[in-house]
Amino acid sequence: MVDTAAIVGRAFGATTRDRYRRHPVGRALCATSNPARAPKAHATGPIQSAGDAVGIGEWNLKEGGIMSNTENAKVAGFTAPGLKEDAAQKAIALLDDRLVALIDLQLTLKHVHWNVVGPNFIGVHEMLDPQVDAVREMTDTIAERIATLGGVPEGTPEAVVRKRSWKDYSIGKGLVAEHLSELDKVYNGVNGDHRKAIDELSEIDPVSEDMLTGQLGDLEQFQWFVRAHIESSSGELKR
Ligand SMILES: [Fe+2]
Repeated sequence: MVDTAAIVGRAFGATTRDRYRRHPVGRALCATSNPARAPKAHATGPIQSAGDAVGIGEWNLKEGGIMSNTENAKVAGFTAPGLKEDAAQKAIALLDDRLVALIDLQLTLKHVHWNVVGPNFIGVHEMLDPQVDAVREMTDTIAERIATLGGVPEGTPEAVVRKRSWKDYSIGKGLVAEHLSELDKVYNGVNGDHRKAIDELSEIDPVSEDMLTGQLGDLEQFQWFVRAHIESSSGELKR
């Protein structure tokens, strides 16, 4: 008998596997899904997350890259041994951007958990809590990596609002299809920017690159769970 949870663990890290085994909904998902065979993305709709920049504060848009927050300066007199000072600064800025995006995401996921209504309510409601838990754990990992590199992770609501470059999630109470269509756009932004950050970190800090790569496997699987609810049998996503 195939151990699907073990497949999840090999593909996306033991932490996620164990979390899903502990969580009752996660156990059900692991028992019925094979994340190693997640389909290719279909959605190309407007991004409403970290990639949908409006350019505020000290954020700079690098050509072909993601938004980087230059106000998060490295303040400690140390960084990881062997890592150059300028590389540490850049890695901290990239990680800071991902921290803000994932704090926003875990709050948004909980908001949808509370406000989704209509047919399939309970399935969607219960699908989202393991995602909240996983994304919250990702924020902790990123924040501690920022501190490890000598930076200051900021997790207050004021800092998140000040640093984010996208509009707030727009739907209050809404039907399953409405919320999941909007959530798919949120994942487009978050996951797309995670991938760009991985690409940039590959040049300067393979440890941070590896950390975000593991997270992206989970995040892309979560987006597949969302899309599976709004996908037609021919592979079209409802908008
Ligand atoms: Fe709840």
